[in-house]
Amino acid sequence: MTTPLTRTAAWQALSAHASSMGATQMKDLFAAQPERFQRFSRSAADILFDFSKNRINDKTLQLLLQLYEEADVAGAKNRMLAGEAINFTENRAVLHMALRAGGKRSYQFGGKEILPDVHQVLEQMARFVAAIHHGERRGFNGKKLTHFVNIGIGGSDLGPHMVCQALKPYAKEGCHVDFVSNVDSSHLVEILKNCRADETLFIVSSKTFTTQETMTNAHSARRWLVAALGSDAAVANHFVAVSTNAQGVAAFGIDTANMFEFWDWVGGRFSLWSAIGLPIALYLGMAQFRELLAGAEAMDEHFITTPAADNLPVILALLGIWYSAFFAARGYAILPYDQYLNRFSAYLQQAEMESNGKQTDYEGQTISDYPTAPIIWGEPGTNGQHAFYQMLHQGTQIIPIDFIATARSHNPLGDHHAILTANVLAQSEALMAGRSLSEAAEQLRQRGYSEDEISRLAPHRVMPGNRPSNTLFIPQLTPRTLGSLIALYEHKIFVQGVIWRINSFDQWGVELGKELAQVILPELQPGNANNPHDASTLGLIAYYRQLQR
Ligand code: F6P
Repeated sequence: MTTPLTRTAAWQALSAHASSMGATQMKDLFAAQPERFQRFSRSAADILFDFSKNRINDKTLQLLLQLYEEADVAGAKNRMLAGEAINFTENRAVLHMALRAGGKRSYQFGGKEILPDVHQVLEQMARFVAAIHHGERRGFNGKKLTHFVNIGIGGSDLGPHMVCQALKPYAKEGCHVDFVSNVDSSHLVEILKNCRADETLFIVSSKTFTTQETMTNAHSARRWLVAALGSDAAVANHFVAVSTNAQGVAAFGIDTANMFEFWDWVGGRFSLWSAIGLPIALYLGMAQFRELLAGAEAMDEHFITTPAADNLPVILALLGIWYSAFFAARGYAILPYDQYLNRFSAYLQQAEMESNGKQTDYEGQTISDYPTAPIIWGEPGTNGQHAFYQMLHQGTQIIPIDFIATARSHNPLGDHHAILTANVLAQSEALMAGRSLSEAAEQLRQRGYSEDEISRLAPHRVMPGNRPSNTLFIPQLTPRTLGSLIALYEHKIFVQGVIWRINSFDQWGVELGKELAQVILPELQPGNANNPHDASTLGLIAYYRQLQR
């Protein structure tokens, strides 16, 4: 059976072309085309994007761009920009680009210009951040608030958490930030061990203000604070909320004067640019937060205005589709060679997999003839090299990779940064070039091995090569370049979702587990009756109950 995507002329041409490219070796392409790097690299918003180490030639790129045209991604982009409810299963617009729009472009929702609301909340954040930093707004006992603890999960945690880690060199002196997300009490308890109640500000971040994990953590944090400071009145000094749900915030006991608003047209995993970024602004200062927004806006402008053939997010998206559709790539590694980006792949797991890990197309049909989002994972280099790179080089499947490198370190120290950079460049070269059996044998011969040993050992040293990777090189990790990098991936996700014909902006797949957890929760108490469950679930509930006695 074919579906609208696989029926397109571009898809069919790509399918035939992939068979002919199957045997093509990238190292031969490099040998035949000395200007391959110039031909297959682009730059925008301070990001150099080298995609020359891919199994592509001019025809591949041309067909992928044809696919982009046939899928009418430009039309979908215009509908997104116009504030149409492209999140059609939740009847919501997708306007996170408005959150970082300085004013060059107008964004409307429901016939109303939305930038004034956006800028009003940014001003509210700026006033609040300044008041905290200058000590005009203090804790219940009059101490300065210097420890910020964000309580949120998913999009209300991963983005701000990743950004705060990434931009630690820009932190305001004397400020600390922590992120509590997991409902496992150990997460909160371990963080509270390092908090002094009179200096701690809790930011309860939840778009819905109903998420079980966040509400449970927020209530426990509140009890801890009231016990430590001896008064309920302390909550007003030490708790603020970020949400779209003013009623829920008030019901929790946070005065809505201490609430920062955002809107339904901001998806959770695209919300770090909204007031959900408050912990970022508190930790780094508002000026750096605005730089982050400016970096994202620069990438937005590039995405909106640049022809597809030179458009970084578009090319990145098309290459991902190329490998998943025609080379059975089911994984995708994000490998940043910058320690500060150590939560970048965790952040992208939600951004990509919650957005595009779907099987139902625009028409409500189950997608059966092409894969959607791959499994995203990664660790910062060089740690990953000593863990899972073995599989990237010699495993039986192709795993496309994005290497992310920075040209300048925030902590220059001897030759560390040169060693780091040599490693990232060496990895992409080794993956591309590989090592043949005769090369492996010759290397052993040079080292004095006997011919018997060579024939036994050389096959194990063969590196198949021809393994694709992109390199995203940025001068330095700054608020601006990080903003551009994140926005690059956001747009990549959008382009892929349109081509795969899925709604990238809902997340129905997380609902059933949440509902069943509500059913099981009371059943964990001894004496409570069980609802009908399968034998496995019943057995596990009984085991848990037994161990509570
Ligand atoms: O995991 C499901 C989800 O709805 C995410 O999309 C969202 O980012 C997260 O839960 C947290 O939701 P909220 O901000 O409403 O607490």
